[in-house]
Amino acid sequence: MRRLNLAILISGRGSNMEALLKAAAAPDYPAKPVLVLSNRPDALGLETALAAGVQAVAIDHKPFGKDREAFERAMDAALIGAGTDIIALAGFMRVLTPWFVNKWQGRMINIHPSLLPKYKGLDTHQRALDAGDAEAGATVHWVSPGVDDGEIIQQASLPILPGDTANSLAARLLPVEHQLYPDALAKACDLIGRSGESGKT
Ligand code: GAR
Repeated sequence: MRRLNLAILISGRGSNMEALLKAAAAPDYPAKPVLVLSNRPDALGLETALAAGVQAVAIDHKPFGKDREAFERAMDAALIGAGTDIIALAGFMRVLTPWFVNKWQGRMINIHPSLLPKYKGLDTHQRALDAGDAEAGATVHWVSPGVDDGEIIQQASLPILPGDTANSLAARLLPVEHQLYPDALAKACDLIGRSGESGKT
């Protein structure tokens, strides 16, 4: 099966992006990175991507003000220009409009640091602690118009330990995310391949 052209959208550190780039360095991995795109010009992950030899660009959302769709049209042009088949959101912290989500639906996935459907949105680690949960985790899901609401592709969990703080939990969860995301992306590529590249309907 043809390797799908992968674009990764980031806003910061980019450690999940790096995990995807490492996995995709294997020639038999089903996705091939063609673009890393950040909405923040100062995102650390841009340098990591460039160092890995991947085209990395920033499209700053700020000059677009409240016009989210205009910002997304600029992103969309860059994505199309790079020949993108599948988008992986990796710590991309902008809420996307229905226009963009519908355009890429079935070809866009996200990683979220909770066991969805629990704790959509922000502060996921603290909310798991506050609820007295025995475990936390991360979810990779298809992106749909509702925030963190799309169909789940794969999850991974870990126990919450006595004395855990939001920071300690996030730090222990991150390597779990780095294992999960490449696996889940491969699964998404496989699903897209099986459905004749139309993705989920
Ligand atoms: C990750 O923990 C990811 O799950 C989370 O942001 C972090 C990004 O870290 N994503 C979200 O909260 C999306 N709602 P990274 O830049 O090092 O990959």
